[in-house]
Amino acid sequence: AEKKMWGGRFAEGTAASMEAYSESVSFDWQLYAEDIRGSQAHARVLAKQGFLTEEEAKRICDGLDMVKAEIEAGDFVWKTEMEDVHMNIESRLTDIIGPLGGKLHTARSRNDQVALDFRLHVAARLEAWREYLLSLIKVYLARAEEHRDTLLPGCTHFQPAQPVSLAHHLLAYCQMFKRDFERVTDCLKRVRVMPLGAAALAGTTHPVNPRAVADDLGVDEIFANSMDAVSDRDFVLEAVFAGSLVMTHLSRMCEEVIIWANPNFGYVKLPDQYSTGSSIMPQKKNPDSCEIMRGKTGRVVGSLMSLLVVLKGLPMTYNRDLQEDKEPFFDVDKTVSASLGIMAGLLEQLEFVPEKMLATVEKGFLNATELADYLAAKGIPFREAHHITGAAVAHAETKGVGLEGLALEELQKFSADIGEDVFNVLDYRACVRRRTSPGSTGPESVEGQISALNQWLEAV
Ligand code: ARG
Repeated sequence: AEKKMWGGRFAEGTAASMEAYSESVSFDWQLYAEDIRGSQAHARVLAKQGFLTEEEAKRICDGLDMVKAEIEAGDFVWKTEMEDVHMNIESRLTDIIGPLGGKLHTARSRNDQVALDFRLHVAARLEAWREYLLSLIKVYLARAEEHRDTLLPGCTHFQPAQPVSLAHHLLAYCQMFKRDFERVTDCLKRVRVMPLGAAALAGTTHPVNPRAVADDLGVDEIFANSMDAVSDRDFVLEAVFAGSLVMTHLSRMCEEVIIWANPNFGYVKLPDQYSTGSSIMPQKKNPDSCEIMRGKTGRVVGSLMSLLVVLKGLPMTYNRDLQEDKEPFFDVDKTVSASLGIMAGLLEQLEFVPEKMLATVEKGFLNATELADYLAAKGIPFREAHHITGAAVAHAETKGVGLEGLALEELQKFSADIGEDVFNVLDYRACVRRRTSPGSTGPESVEGQISALNQWLEAV
């Protein structure tokens, strides 16, 4: 076996099984660009601090550029015996530039190095999530603007409750994804902390300058406590939680699309590009994209749990358990990024069927609340108005008509306070139009929501 970088005190090599068990290069190689960026900043600052000459720092930085080029050309040989991305790169650097490569690791431990690499990586991915979220919100907004006048049965308990505009329903998702965007943005503040200079755990006697490294890397904050710097993984946990919530929101939408696409609802027609067929039933068009997304949500939430459990019993400071932080995040990132894109594509092409929505609005007594409110406005206590309306609903149901299908005289049997004007109130479009309370499904509120979101999009 190749000699380990830390092998000075070891007489025997590592068992092959242990080597395979403990390596992380098979997945953390993905951090190569961040690792090299961090090392170059470290070298430049070591020079600034007088620890390396400018010439030495330049040779290190140039050597690292060559390593990067090799990796990107596919010429780099990743070695399991070198454990991880950090030692693979440093060892190759030393091959290229000689013993000077060994100076790079002065005043630095892999514990702060891995924290830096991972922070830079998570920050870049969260930036990408922000963009995907904005794109999705824009699609929701565009579809909402098309469907201001489309009526949909608003549900509670998944039972038809009151008519709402489809715009209002879609705008509810805009709020969820807007919060997700804000959550990711807020999380970034805590991801962008520069841990280099913690030097394993206790700080160092070398004249490091973490502030200068942070400036070089364009990172705002530096660590306040070296022990925390190497053992804090809150930033990953928060990112994975934010991703779990994104997936949870997406999964709710998936569930709705799946239901809406069932011909018994028929509220939507699935776009071919995001659906699949059945190998046996020729008539089928299945919402597989939504089912897969709903399924993958479980997997993302699983990663959140796995990270929480990894962290829960760790004594200070760095423990090798922390190596288990990367795969869950990589997996979550892959899923969140792809899912946000798929949902945006699907929603863009989803065909809504307003007639089908309207037909169910008109079937389920969705204007019953209007009648109760109408009576309450005439001075009848709401509880009593509710009761009167319930009796009218039961009567209409036996006749197989809606409340608006009863004659005025029939309605008046339930309350003498009912007048001709009741029919304006029972009109399904009026149910939406007459809602003027803030944030309601009423047209003024919906217009306000749309313009507020557009303004927000322009400002972010
Ligand atoms: N591969 C390790 C990880 O992901 C890097 C840090 C290892 N540090 C150490 N002292 N063994 O956490």
